[in-house]
Amino acid sequence: MSAIYAAVRKLPNSKKKRVLVTGGAGFVGSHLVDRLMLMGHEVIVVDNLFTGSKRNIQHWLGHPHFELSRHDVVDPYMAEVDMIYHLACPASPPHYQYNPVKTVKTSVMGSINMLGLAKRVKARFLLTSTSEVYGDPLEHPQAESYWGHVNPIGPRACYDEGKRVAETLSYSYQKQSNVQVRVARIFNTFGPRMNENDGRVVSNFILQALRGQSITVFGDGSQTRSFQYVHDLVDGLIALMEGDFSDPVNLGNPEEYTIQNFAEIVRDIVGRDGVSIINLNATQDDPHQRKPDITRARKEIGWEPRFSMKQGIEETVSG
Ligand SMILES: NC(=O)c1ccc[n+]([C@@H]2O[C@H](COP(=O)([O-])OP(=O)(O)OC[C@H]3O[C@@H](n4cnc5c(N)ncnc54)[C@H](O)[C@@H]3O)[C@@H](O)[C@H]2O)c1
Repeated sequence: MSAIYAAVRKLPNSKKKRVLVTGGAGFVGSHLVDRLMLMGHEVIVVDNLFTGSKRNIQHWLGHPHFELSRHDVVDPYMAEVDMIYHLACPASPPHYQYNPVKTVKTSVMGSINMLGLAKRVKARFLLTSTSEVYGDPLEHPQAESYWGHVNPIGPRACYDEGKRVAETLSYSYQKQSNVQVRVARIFNTFGPRMNENDGRVVSNFILQALRGQSITVFGDGSQTRSFQYVHDLVDGLIALMEGDFSDPVNLGNPEEYTIQNFAEIVRDIVGRDGVSIINLNATQDDPHQRKPDITRARKEIGWEPRFSMKQGIEETVSG
């Protein structure tokens, strides 16, 4: 505890920002909070703890720069802040499909509330959107100019369409009310503090392999994904927030793997004997290909991933 407190930079008041992180008790949010705290900023986390946990941020509870507010973003929130990182939203299919109406409300009303706050206090606003806005893409790799191929009434729609509306809201507030907005389209991300039972492929495979169970691949495993390590994502979110570029930016690792190949890599890194890979029926609306084109991120915010997927998996497994 004291070691991490000692690592917090002392910023002069002129450089210290008041930063609101919605969803800051979740997987990505808690890593972002760590970084912002270490940079010396003042951080308020707003989270209803639906999929997040106090455990993820407990090392900051009691720090004078840190505040946790248990609050649902569907209801308005007021605070004097300079920046808002708006992450609050369940992100894995079992969680966002558990109550699809609530997921849409979280995306739409939560974004309206946070954009309204940004407008009122003149804060810069960053939305964590998703590669899911591309749906099952007909273009590969996906650049930000691609409009997407989303089923508006499928089981994933509450999340995908919710985020698409959140993007629309962001740019509407920018046009109408001059709110400074940033939109990150995040591709699959993994790392320590991933929710163990969130049903996402990385946590599933690692847990199954660590428990010595068979790794279950849905479909024939030929569908592709790219996997980014959470520390790279945090670098990208901060670069985007602090930069001048306000169109959507993909943040992901363009190294592409088939799910079958990924399962083999996880099995080999975990190194437990007797772990086999079995194929089950494909899930509905599961995209066939996903790979970010990060040309824009490289050019506009000077960002690219530093960790390979294998390095990230090794750290996650050992962490
Ligand atoms: N992890 C990924 O691979 C990934 C990919 C694309 C986009 N994203 C986006 O990044 C953000 C964070 O994702 P994550 O992986 O950390 O998910 P997560 O589920 O771990 O974190 C989401 C956080 O939001 C909170 N939350 C949910 N609904 C809320 C509400 N109504 N009010 C207040 N808080 C609420 C949860 O309690 C949790 O702490 C999400 O917006 C997600 O859509 C993540």
